[in-house]
Amino acid sequence: MSENIIRYKLTENIEVLRLLDSDTKYFEALWEIPEGIVYNAYVVKGSSGVVLVDTWKAGYGDKLVEVLEETGVLNKLTHIITHHLEPDHSGALPDLVKANPDVTVMGHPMGERLIKSQYGISVKFKPVKDGEEVEVSGLHFSFYYTPWLHWPETIISYLHGDKALFTCDVFGSYGLFREKLLGSLSSEERDRYFKLARKYFANVVGHYRAFVLKSLSRLVELIERSEYIAPAHGLVLGKSDALIMAKLYEKWAKSAGSKVLVVYDSMYGFIERFMLELTSRLKSRGYDVSTHAFTWSKRSLISEVVGEGVEADTLVIGVSLYENMPFPMVEYLVKLLVHKTGCKKTIVISAYGWGGRSAELKSILESYGCREVHYYEATPSGLQDLIKNVEEAISL
Ligand code: FEO
Repeated sequence: MSENIIRYKLTENIEVLRLLDSDTKYFEALWEIPEGIVYNAYVVKGSSGVVLVDTWKAGYGDKLVEVLEETGVLNKLTHIITHHLEPDHSGALPDLVKANPDVTVMGHPMGERLIKSQYGISVKFKPVKDGEEVEVSGLHFSFYYTPWLHWPETIISYLHGDKALFTCDVFGSYGLFREKLLGSLSSEERDRYFKLARKYFANVVGHYRAFVLKSLSRLVELIERSEYIAPAHGLVLGKSDALIMAKLYEKWAKSAGSKVLVVYDSMYGFIERFMLELTSRLKSRGYDVSTHAFTWSKRSLISEVVGEGVEADTLVIGVSLYENMPFPMVEYLVKLLVHKTGCKKTIVISAYGWGGRSAELKSILESYGCREVHYYEATPSGLQDLIKNVEEAISL
């Protein structure tokens, strides 16, 4: 077995097949993830066959077939449950169906069409209804729709008997963790895990935060019934950790933190000087400030900035005027922050040489429905005069 595959027994009937992916540098071709990511598939043994719960990312299908073959499961596979058709979980389907053409794929009614449209294959497909209990291979699963967590066809399932809740993207995390359970991490690693889960939430699920809030009470109800909460990314959670994660989901979905998120570019150091002084003044007044820079010598990861966005209630943007438009990376980041974490009180400080068009950033925010936007502009040498007004706007 390759060293990037971990296999362990979670319960008498459930085996975890985890693929550690350190090759993906940009998740969804967008998010920098130096920490890597895992894909969890679960093999569930019933009295009359085996069910596979989710698969691995496209490109790893042959590996998954190999593992199932080596462990004597491939020919016993009667069903594959697809909670979500994004190819990081369904990408191995074409290889699996080719290796075992008798297998039935189960999922949301939209699933059959998505499999055909993504992979150009027709499979034996059994749609499941919201709240439906189904017996397969001697196993009892109940299915629940959780639309937009993270696609419209996303479902989760509860395995009766083993009391396992399979949640796919929900409660997942980045990171190449090799442990079996979140509960077995040291407190330091645990803190890191929750930070990575926050980043994952903001990057991947954040845009659908209203749907998270709609599904939350049902999720909590199901967690209360479960012993294991088994996502498709990250580690398996026990009940108490899953309840903590559900609380955090509520906080993140509401962007209910109190952080001041400072983001700026600085081409020649003028804005940086101002933003660093502002950061230090805010910190000395007790604000929880997180500062991210885009300069000639440093550049924050977009994924990290957006990750912190779900805990911020105030956004402070320092932006240069660049060829008569807002500095491109800052404009891009501001748009992403609003898309993924919603509108917040925003203070824009623009430095210009011979024009003031960074006010465009204010119009962009307002066109997204953000109402509380304070805009200040000055020449590089005039920035210092703004500091009191900016501090006042932050404390309003
Ligand atoms: Fe991990 Fe939305 O797929």
